[in-house]
Amino acid sequence: MIVIENAEDMCRNTIGKPRVLVPTMGALHSGHGRLISHARSLAGPSGMLIVSIFVNPTQFGPDEDFEAYPRSPGEDQSLCVAAGTDILFQPTVEEMYDEEASGSHYTAADSGLITTLCGPGRPGHFDGVCTVVEKLFRMMKPDIAVFGKKDYQQLAVISKMTRDLKLPVRIIGAETVREEDGLAMSSRNRYLNPQQRCQAPAIYKALQHIKEHGAMEASARIMSAHEIITKEAPLGKISYLQIVDRQTMREIKTIDRPALAAAAVHFGKARLIDNVEIGPIPQDNE
Ligand code: PAJ
Repeated sequence: MIVIENAEDMCRNTIGKPRVLVPTMGALHSGHGRLISHARSLAGPSGMLIVSIFVNPTQFGPDEDFEAYPRSPGEDQSLCVAAGTDILFQPTVEEMYDEEASGSHYTAADSGLITTLCGPGRPGHFDGVCTVVEKLFRMMKPDIAVFGKKDYQQLAVISKMTRDLKLPVRIIGAETVREEDGLAMSSRNRYLNPQQRCQAPAIYKALQHIKEHGAMEASARIMSAHEIITKEAPLGKISYLQIVDRQTMREIKTIDRPALAAAAVHFGKARLIDNVEIGPIPQDNE
């Protein structure tokens, strides 16, 4: 595995080979590991698997955990090697944000997908994600980029941006990787104390309950999911629990089309998100 800090080195190393990119912010866990291994299989033996690690300042709000975001460069490198990475791209903030011309002015609002879920509670977050991901696409020129369904709205916004800007990259969504008790793996799980960790699987349990509940009305399903979290995770503070149309990310009242049940729950300073798909799983995933 080669570690590089700027895009020029990247170009010299990969001329003519199909490229698959997995963008991350580091603090890698087995969920990332699975994503990277999946990308390895998409790249094939002759393809180039690139993982980027960059804690992107522009996607953190002023009260969020940018400074405190966990960083573990040594372990990250070992995980990348084990998962078959060819190139680890670790740019500095200056490398990513030095230029005066900011390139395209795509904002996440253009996607029409951020009026629900994490959109309202994290103003500017998806703009930061779009900015950095578009830059990474322009610098790394991947043929394929892989993102986790754990961050479903992010995946939807990036897919839409890629279509709108006609960027020549295929976006693949990979399944959420979970702990044995159902908790979605996340770099932020390490903020949980033992009591919070015990209660956090209630998020997935509540979402599964929404999926399996027979009622057509979204409100009935949401109400009983709320009860599960309130009862089983009293240390958790629900930020949202919503059912949205999977294409538009708009809230729906009746479960009559492919939908997504999604939640964000705070446990102390850890903000955990998760989701489950309801209805047929789209073909272009995994
Ligand atoms: P990060 O949170 O590091 O996640 C990197 C990728 O790993 C994302 O595509 C995310 O959805 C995926 N991922 C995280 N946990 C996962 C899990 N348990 N199962 C499956 N996939 C999982 O998401 C970001 O970084 C950033 O916003 C980024 C896209 C890199 C832009 O800065």
